Amino acid sequence: MTQPDNKPIPLLDLQAQYDSIATELESAALQLMRSGQFIMGNPVAQFESDIAGYLGVENAIGCASGSDALLLALMALDIGPGDAVITSPFTFFATGGAIARLGATPVFIDIRPSDFNLDPASVRRFLEGSNTRYQALGVSPEQVKAIIPVHLYGQMADMEKFLAISKEFSIPLVEDAAQAIGAKQSFSDGCVVGAGVEGDFGCFSFFPSKNLGAFGDGGLITVCDPELAEKVRVLRLHGSKPKYYHRIVGINSRLDTLQAAILGVKLKHLDVWSAARQEKAGFYNRLFTEAGLVSEAPACWTGGCTSVCQWEGQGVVLPYETVALNGGAHIYHQYTIRVKNRDSLAQGLSDVGIGNSVYYPLCLHQQECFTGLGYAGIKELCPHAVCASNQALSLPIYPELSQDDQRRVVETIGQLLA
Ligand SMILES: Cc1ncc(COP(=O)(O)O)c(C=O)c1O
Repeated sequence: MTQPDNKPIPLLDLQAQYDSIATELESAALQLMRSGQFIMGNPVAQFESDIAGYLGVENAIGCASGSDALLLALMALDIGPGDAVITSPFTFFATGGAIARLGATPVFIDIRPSDFNLDPASVRRFLEGSNTRYQALGVSPEQVKAIIPVHLYGQMADMEKFLAISKEFSIPLVEDAAQAIGAKQSFSDGCVVGAGVEGDFGCFSFFPSKNLGAFGDGGLITVCDPELAEKVRVLRLHGSKPKYYHRIVGINSRLDTLQAAILGVKLKHLDVWSAARQEKAGFYNRLFTEAGLVSEAPACWTGGCTSVCQWEGQGVVLPYETVALNGGAHIYHQYTIRVKNRDSLAQGLSDVGIGNSVYYPLCLHQQECFTGLGYAGIKELCPHAVCASNQALSLPIYPELSQDDQRRVVETIGQLLA
């Protein structure tokens, strides 16, 4: 129940964003409706060019959703039955779904608990054949045709290490950057790289709740290799080139023209919105620290971990920024804490009208549709991911969130944990 003097605090307030740029959005939508150009055309080409400039890539190709972006990237690599693709078990379903949809086998490898992202050291162990537990699944390292690091919550997976693995084992990288547009990471040589830019493919989502969200579904693929870029362009139009002639079988996955017009308007504001999210995250960190609510990270992060978490911390573990140094940037698609009694805290927050969400309550290797992969029969394959699925809780974050509301979120968490 909401307190009488306390209005609800949503997890995300898209209305506030709309109100702040309504005139620009409405004018773009009206212009599009009057033009009668509803499929592809100039607005899509213009947006592709604008976002390629923003990301600093040669080829940015619009498509119907982030899920399709992943599917098209794997299709361009000719991935299919008999192949395997490594990814994180702690992600939205689409990442694993795209692999399975093509008849390939997803190989779920554990996360690095500090940043919730696929752990490059564990991936390397699998590829070297030194993690004997995986042998029981019947997938061999030689079958691996791609690796999909997921940049969860707006923070990049360790791309420096993944690029080295990709080169050493000659396996393409498909970055799932659905949650991380504009995120950056600094490498040890000091260069700063963006999410979805350095891998062979970058896959982005414009689902409305994303930092750059459309008024419906939308997605984007970035591709380094010009031939693969051309293949993706053809695949998204049923494999047709020239029109009505098909050398390959594709799908219908165009970026909707109205969405492209909307996204073009919003792209101009993205960096300001991301900076505001970073500032809100910093303020949450300060409030939690000043309230004495911060717990040390569980010791098992640096050592062994079991899915039955032994962690006895009484407070919250703050999001751990692995990329904040030297120009790197977490873009805080989510501000996600860890807490021991997560479900009761989540319920307590909901009871007083404070938005919150669990991304994600069940790991992909534990999903019913993947039972046949055989993970249940092998103990402790992805224990860090299972712990994260029991402890992660995302709190309200959006550019327009007020400091008073943030104070109320932290005070309420303090009361609920007491
Ligand atoms: C990590 C991740 N991958 C893929 C997707 C799929 O994107 P879409 O919803 O646009 O299909 C999402 C979106 O929710 C996501 O968060």
